[in-house]
Amino acid sequence: MMKPGLKGVIAAETKIGEVDGLNGRLVYRGYEIRELTKERTFEEVAYLLWYGKIPEPEELLQFHRLFHQSRQLTPVMMNVLDALPDNMDMMSVLRTVLSAEGDSTYGWKPTLDQAVSLTAKIPTIIASRKNTLEGRPLIDPDNNLSHVENYLYMLHGSLPKAEHVRALETYMILTMEHGMNASTFSARVTASTESDLVSAICAAIGTMKGPLHGGAPSEVIALLDEVKQEQNVRSFLSQKILAGEKLMGFGHRVYKTHDPRALALKEKLMEQEGKDEWLDLALSVEVAAIAALEEHKPGRALYTNVEFYAAAIMKAIELDPSLFTPTFTASRMVGWTAHVLEQAENNTIFRPLSRYIGK
Ligand code: ACO
Repeated sequence: MMKPGLKGVIAAETKIGEVDGLNGRLVYRGYEIRELTKERTFEEVAYLLWYGKIPEPEELLQFHRLFHQSRQLTPVMMNVLDALPDNMDMMSVLRTVLSAEGDSTYGWKPTLDQAVSLTAKIPTIIASRKNTLEGRPLIDPDNNLSHVENYLYMLHGSLPKAEHVRALETYMILTMEHGMNASTFSARVTASTESDLVSAICAAIGTMKGPLHGGAPSEVIALLDEVKQEQNVRSFLSQKILAGEKLMGFGHRVYKTHDPRALALKEKLMEQEGKDEWLDLALSVEVAAIAALEEHKPGRALYTNVEFYAAAIMKAIELDPSLFTPTFTASRMVGWTAHVLEQAENNTIFRPLSRYIGK
């Protein structure tokens, strides 16, 4: 039987993560996502996805050294970055510059050290490109800063606020891994031919670039911008629903109950209530929107999705919209590379069939 888009087909077994849409659960290697965002750093969760366990303090120290010292771009990558036209979008820049890292040391099989090294370089590529386009000097990565802190530091040229780091870090932990999504599948298909890790990741970046996948929270930002001007938010949102519009940032195809990533982000934002106008606005808009949805769409189980709070975070940390999908890429690198390593452990080439309906 043909399954368009391979919907409902289980194409691999994985020990990396579980997406349970019916019960609203997301699990990384046996740990509930909210447990991880409450207590763990980006580095600890990346270690968990790559090595299969939470690191001991000594292991974490060693890992910090390896991960943080891999941020510097190679001379070849810098040359390629310099040669790219100004009108190339950031996802294409990431794909092209990362590709320049694919020398002969990247053969079959992929290694964990390669995964760590490539992931460490993504924020440096993004920040270097952004600074070059804006005519600012390049900012060297600071090895004393954490992965997320250093990303914001290289982008803005100053040390970020602790609450902004924690908010972005929570988002980046939540988006590291999400089962057999299109880009992860792409990476595994490429790896299944015994191709190298750089090629698998370039395939994944190309897949993530499409608007049906790397969806940015820009439309939620437009909603928050509109709502900001309104006196009566609930009645404004009700009118939208009655006019047949979808409220951006609400509802989800897979999660038919709360999106666990939205809950975890909200929890983090509530710790910072009163410290940022966008975060406060999002918290109050959610209350009005849920009330309006319950009134006009009763029984549809519509809740906030991860994009809703992601938008508030992006606004709060003043991240340019052109960086939303690249930032998602920076976190998903961990999931992609973990999947490629898993694919390599027990490889079967992906080779589905097609049914001929031509002449
Ligand atoms: N606002 C208002 N009404 C909504 C919304 C919404 N955000 N979402 C669903 N509904 C209504 C629909 O109009 C429909 O009503 P009806 O029964 O009267 O026809 C009912 O709820 C069921 O909606 P469907 O579109 O069938 O639900 P589905 O699960 O197919 O769609 C989707 C999910 C596409 C995400 C939808 O909820 C939506 O468009 N949301 C807004 C866009 C958005 O936030 N996208 C980001 C998703 S998260 C992510 O991609 C990481």
